[in-house]
Parts: sequence; C-alpha cells; structure tokens
Amino acid sequence: RLLILDFGSQYTQLIARRIREIGVYCEVKPFDISVEEIREFSPRGIILAGGPESVTKLDSPRAPAGVFDMALPVLGICYGMQTMAEELGGRVAGADKQEFGYAQVKVRTGSDLLKGISDHVTDQGEPVLDVWMSHGDQVVKLPPEFELVASTESAPISAMQHVEKKLFAVQFHPEVTHTLQGQRILENFVRQICGCETLWTPSQIVDDAVRQIRDQVGTDKVLLGLSGGVDSSVTAALLHKAIGDQLTCVFVDNGLLRLHEGDQVMDMFAKSMGVKVIRADAEDLFLDRLKGVSDPEQKRKVIGNTFIEVFDAEATRIEDVNWLAQGTIYPDVIESAAAKTGKAQVIKSHHNVGGLPETMRMKLVEPLRELFKDEVRRIGLELGLPYDMVYRHPFPGPGLGVRILGEVKKPYADILRRADAIFLEELHRADWYHKTSQAFAVFLPVKSVGVVGDGRRYEYVIALRAVETIDFMTARWAHLPYELLETVSNRIINEISGVSRVTYDVSSKPPATIEWE
Ligand code: XMP
Repeated sequence: RLLILDFGSQYTQLIARRIREIGVYCEVKPFDISVEEIREFSPRGIILAGGPESVTKLDSPRAPAGVFDMALPVLGICYGMQTMAEELGGRVAGADKQEFGYAQVKVRTGSDLLKGISDHVTDQGEPVLDVWMSHGDQVVKLPPEFELVASTESAPISAMQHVEKKLFAVQFHPEVTHTLQGQRILENFVRQICGCETLWTPSQIVDDAVRQIRDQVGTDKVLLGLSGGVDSSVTAALLHKAIGDQLTCVFVDNGLLRLHEGDQVMDMFAKSMGVKVIRADAEDLFLDRLKGVSDPEQKRKVIGNTFIEVFDAEATRIEDVNWLAQGTIYPDVIESAAAKTGKAQVIKSHHNVGGLPETMRMKLVEPLRELFKDEVRRIGLELGLPYDMVYRHPFPGPGLGVRILGEVKKPYADILRRADAIFLEELHRADWYHKTSQAFAVFLPVKSVGVVGDGRRYEYVIALRAVETIDFMTARWAHLPYELLETVSNRIINEISGVSRVTYDVSSKPPATIEWE
C-alpha cells in the first residue's frame, strides 16, 4: 500500500485514483500527520502531492519532519517537490511567470522514475516528455547530493532525484491525462521503485470487504436505506453477499422517482437477488406534505424530513437491529477530513440518511468508505449488478420534486416521468446516454399554445437538459444532434397529452446550475 500526503491540491484525489487503477491500494492523509502514524499505516512508499500554497512562505505546509529518513521511497509532485527541496536544503523561488499548461521536458539523467519513457527525442538524442505544468514557484537550487533529472525552458529544475535515498520529485503533474506518459511514470514509482504488487482488483476488493463486514457485524442485523442509486445499490449487493438475510433494506418510494423505478428496484433486489427489501409506498404522504410548497429549498426540506419520518417508521418496526449501513464513499471521507483541517478547496456536506430516532442507537457500517466512484462501479459489476444500473446518471435525492418547477402535483409528476423516460430511451438508442454525464426532463407549469387539427390548445412545456461534466461543479450543455432532439420532441408531444412544446436548455454551469431548481 501507498500513502499520499495531501497539501490541498484539487489533483490529490486524482493521484489516488491513478495509483488504485494501477492495482495498488493507497490512502490520502493530511500533510501534518506524524511519522508514528505513517509507520503505523506501513506504506511501501509515500507521495507528496501538490498544493495551492507557496513554500517560500514560512507558515506554509511542510511534509512531516523525518519523512525523508524513513528509508521509504518518496515521490514529490509539484508542491511536493518544492517542499522536498526546501526541507532538504535546496531553494525554491517564485518563477518570473506562472507556468500553466503543456510543456516539453528534456530528460538529462537516467532515472528509474522515467525509465523507458519518452514522447520524442531531440536532435542530440535526449528523450523529451510532453507534460502538464501548473505552478507559480519552482526549485531553483537542488538540495545537496541531488541530481538534476529533467528541465524545461522555464523550469530548469523540473525533476530531481537522490537515488540512494530513493527520493524522486517532478514539477509537472503525472496524474493528469495531459501528461501523456503520466500513468507509466506513476507505475514506475509504484511497481519498480516501491515494489508494490497489483493486488487491488475488483474481486480482491469484494473478498476483503466481505471479510471485513463479517468481522464487524458478526451475527447482528443490519439496516440499509436503499434508493436505487449506484452507491446504495452496491452497498446492498455487497452486504447481501457478506451477511445474506441479516440485511434488511428499506426502500422509500416518495412518488418522485423516474418511470417504473420503484418496480425495477424491487425486481432487481427482492426478486432476482433475494435481498430482503421493505418497500414503503409513501407517494400520498409526500404529495400531501408538498401541497402549497413552491420554494425550491423549502421543497428539499419537506422531502428530506418526510423521508426521515418514513424511513424511521419502517426501521422502528424491525426488531433488534444494531447496525445502520451507509453508502458513504471515499471522496466524501476525504472531503470531510479536509474540511476539518481547513485545507479543503471544495467543501460539501453529505447526509445519506438523516436523524434517526433516539431510541435506535445504531452503529454505522460503511463498506464503500475506502472506494472511489469508479471502484464502486467496478465492484458493482463484479457483484453481478447490471451495467446500466452501475453506470447510470446521478439522480438527486429530492427526485422529480426539484424538476417540477414550483408546486409539485401528481399530474405534473406523471407527465414529467413519461417525458423523461422518452428522452432517456432515445439517448440510449442513439448511443448518447453515456456520452452525457446527466440528462433529464424538466416540467414547466406554464401553458403554451399548440395547434392540433383546426383547434388551438394550451398545454404545458417540457424542457430537456443534458450536460457533460467531470465533477458536476462546472458543466457544458451537451451538443446533442438535432435529429435526436427532433425525435425526442416529436415523441413527447405526440405521445403525451398535456404537452404542447419541448425546449432544449443551452445554458452552461456556471452560471446556470444543472438542475432547474
Ligand atoms: P446543480 O443543480 O447544483 O447540481 O448544478 C449538481 C449535481 O447535484 C445534484 N443535486 C442534488 N443532489 N440532492 C441531491 O442529492 C439535491 O438536493 C440536489 N440538488 C442538485 C444534481 O442532480 C447534479 O448532479
């Protein structure tokens, strides 16, 4: 296993994902953990990641003292290189201009890190790599006994090493795909230099998780709120494999789900997999609570509170449950740890299942806590969940509640569900579903004119939204083919009475959000 020390860069999680893709387990910890804690974790090597601060400032973060003397290989990346240089007697200074984007690095000295890797060769026969740079400061003097490994025009010291001590550092970012051979550089570090074996495979992850779950809960009963989303579905499948009938799932149908979704969840989990699932049909209650509520944030609150109420009522009926399972995944854990230390650039709060009744003192079991989303998907497939379920778009907790603008009413939800299903069906048919990150229909409770035969009719408007995004923080509207939009629009207007007009949303985020409310 490998340890990654986080200095607050947005790329840190990406490094962790890349290392795991190589098939080696790693964890991200804050830069200020102690050497004892590192020893306890017993990594085969350490990566010092990037960060937004400047080592030229006295109060900026440093790697833990002693990390370079643990006889472990260390790879410094960007800020990690700068702190390594600074702490070991080199010098770092602000560059004349920030370097951001593609650069070509010339390799000057042989290095295990860059062994066998080049994108071009210069006239003098020096290997050259195409890399991605993003930095203001740079190392201007090597620490004693370090060798220069590579340079660019503007950063003469772009990579350095101390072979004997197994210390390596690069100014560029091997973890981003713009650095063409980045993955091979990381592989060299992980496999050749640290000597890690590739044991982190989906089947291995499942076996480990099953063992851990059994150790943790023994013969106790476990309760899980199943939503049909990827994380809770994989959690259910994993727990079912580990403890079978000790698991009970509660699936709350709030009446704001997609077309046939409730039945599909029951078919897959209860019927085909034999998981114990209690379906709470609470459509009437949710719609009743939502009467007269049109403010989006208020709707979210009502839906959230009603969910907790229904979930708790079901849960209280099950006897002797000591454990509550949650589909928390690793990015949530890292983010909340980062938020605690105040080093987070992105802070989100995550509440999978809210308040539980006081009388139900349950312990938490979170079997996906160490996994990234792509790993969750891969073990979902390993556990036999269908591809389309594991790779489906995210769906917000409040469901169609925030896709019906203003007050939520059942007839609106019924129209929206059918329009949404047509849109998704056609996206799949045209092979566009997986090229978009999220796609859905929105119900606009305004009436627009249409002509049918000789008559004019005034009916509702459906807006279509499809976006491409990596992190859902920014997004571009998907450039769907006109023919596809035309088919969807024709089908919605012809097949659903009550809709006279379909529009396509061409707003990007920011400033428009992905959802309409
Ligand atoms: P926005 O609309 O903020 O959406 O650009 C970003 C992502 O978050 C999802 N989203 C929600 N998810 N509860 C959720 O569980 C919510 O209240 C909520 N609001 C937005 C949205 O679907 C998109 O993926």
